[in-house]
Amino acid sequence: QADERESMYLVSEYASKYFQTQMHKTDEGQAIGLSYFKERGFTSETIKKFDLGYSPDEWDAFTKNALGDGYKLEFLEKTGLTIVKDEKTFDRFKGRVMFPIQSMSGRVLGFGGRILGNSKKAAKYLNSPESDIYHKSKVLYGIYHAKQSIAKEDNCYLVEGYTDVIQFHQSGIENTVSSSGTALTSEQIRLINRLTKNITVLFDGDAAGTRASMRGIDLILEQGMNVKVCPFPEGEDPDSFARSNSEAELEEFLKENSYDFITYKASLLMDEAKNDPVKKADLIRDMVQSIAKIPDNIQKEVYLQECSRIMDISEDVLYATLAQLEKKDG
Ligand code: CTP
Ligand code: MN
Ligand code: MN
Ligand code: MN
Ligand code: MN
Repeated sequence: QADERESMYLVSEYASKYFQTQMHKTDEGQAIGLSYFKERGFTSETIKKFDLGYSPDEWDAFTKNALGDGYKLEFLEKTGLTIVKDEKTFDRFKGRVMFPIQSMSGRVLGFGGRILGNSKKAAKYLNSPESDIYHKSKVLYGIYHAKQSIAKEDNCYLVEGYTDVIQFHQSGIENTVSSSGTALTSEQIRLINRLTKNITVLFDGDAAGTRASMRGIDLILEQGMNVKVCPFPEGEDPDSFARSNSEAELEEFLKENSYDFITYKASLLMDEAKNDPVKKADLIRDMVQSIAKIPDNIQKEVYLQECSRIMDISEDVLYATLAQLEKKDG
């Protein structure tokens, strides 16, 4: 079993090297892959740092090479790099630019592959399937390059996507990681918790994810961490914003637009409820549910007072609601 995993790591590392060589050393790779990343504003240094690559637009170019170099089909298939169907083999990531996903210690666990341009014919990103070495709920994209900075800055920026991480690093904000499209999990938060107690969650300005991500944030509170949120302007994400602003402007933006999560959520819910008392009652329960997750009693109390003020409801009622919830949850 350990041997099998080692073989899977080796083939993943081989694949990462192969995709990089294809991008830097072939005409197709330079014309399509490298120029794609350059157009997105990534420098050569950034492209090297994140080991970005290109998978040729042929059915089985990678698979053939790997087999030729002595890697076993078994492990190519187990890592999902090769798809076997009707005894034929296909490259999963054919014709995509490649983002290797690394563990805390820098091993390649899997890949994200992006189609070029914005064709609607295929998923924008394809990711490695779950395997014995890649568990998407347990990895954070960028953690290998971010861990030192997270500890040093005593804060972690959590963004939605691969390119957000990369662009932030390039803009000098290296304490940035991403859950990469999956809902945030407790295991991912634990990875951060070992390095800092402070997380700032950055939202794309596309509203779609905002409400959904808010639930994930309760999981951060549960681990006794301090959470801030920073919503990006409509139509922007951290990548696009970092690209069109200077480093100083970016830092200024983050400073000015990071709000304590509980305070932010309370204001957001109040805006939503407006003068609808039934809705307001629901939202207050929603709010207290978040606060109930906080393990520290003093912190809990401070937040209840704050919410009482923002939502214009007595502290007594909030305490009673909290007590009810805690009884129900045991
Ligand atoms: N994602 C995914 N599969 C998709 C779409 C998104 O796995 N079909 C994941 C990717 O990790 C992506 C993240 O969700 O980086 C955030 O999605 P989105 O904001 O749509 O993409 P961006 O990262 O902004 O990608 P880009 O700027 O390249 O369009
Ligand atoms: Mn690197
Ligand atoms: Mn998004
Ligand atoms: Mn985005
Ligand atoms: Mn983007």
